[in-house]
Amino acid sequence: MKIFLDTANLDELRAAAKWGIVDGVTTNPSLIAKEGKPIKEQVAAICDIVDGPVSAEVISVEAKAMIAEGRELAKVHKNIIVKLPLIRDGIEACSALSKEGIRTNVTLCFSPAQALLAAKAGAYFISPFVGRLDDVGATGMDLVRQIVAIYENYDYETQVLAASLRGPLHVVEASLAGAHIGTMPFKVLDSLFNHPLTDKGLEQFLKDYNKAFAK
Ligand code: E4P
Repeated sequence: MKIFLDTANLDELRAAAKWGIVDGVTTNPSLIAKEGKPIKEQVAAICDIVDGPVSAEVISVEAKAMIAEGRELAKVHKNIIVKLPLIRDGIEACSALSKEGIRTNVTLCFSPAQALLAAKAGAYFISPFVGRLDDVGATGMDLVRQIVAIYENYDYETQVLAASLRGPLHVVEASLAGAHIGTMPFKVLDSLFNHPLTDKGLEQFLKDYNKAFAK
């Protein structure tokens, strides 16, 4: 499974990029707003740090305006993926932009039926929101499993990008479910490293070595 970082924060991206395990980035209007810079400027800076797909979301809600905004965002860098909300106009914009060869990420997906529409519209990524479904008492990961199965049935090329992953278990379950990509905040990625037996084992190795060879 590819790992994307769900952040627009450049310090977090620089820190994670050093590990060599970040395949791409997702942003949304809330994450861009937190950084205080206009979207084009912020995603251009992100593209300088991470060499992989970088999702930049439109803020228009009418198809014509979404298409125009998507074209402008796509011009910022070859790695930009235009993110579109899963509404009627978003699917219309997805169809139009896909036909022009502009890659899209259809976001705010909460049902398998919505995911089917995105695939038919030629979406490059579909983003089912796992954590937000859990928040309302559903099992978010079931959606990822259903979409993976539907896409496999018909050989759709749309990649399943499990989003709204809130902890290490979500990441593991998304990879078991066959998601192509998991996107997560920096703190979730960082938590994947942790295991007390790793720390305990390393401490013991170094203690033994130093005891044997220290003067
Ligand atoms: C994905 O593209 C979204 O930006 C993100 O995963 C949403 O996560 P949240 O539900 O934790 O805000």
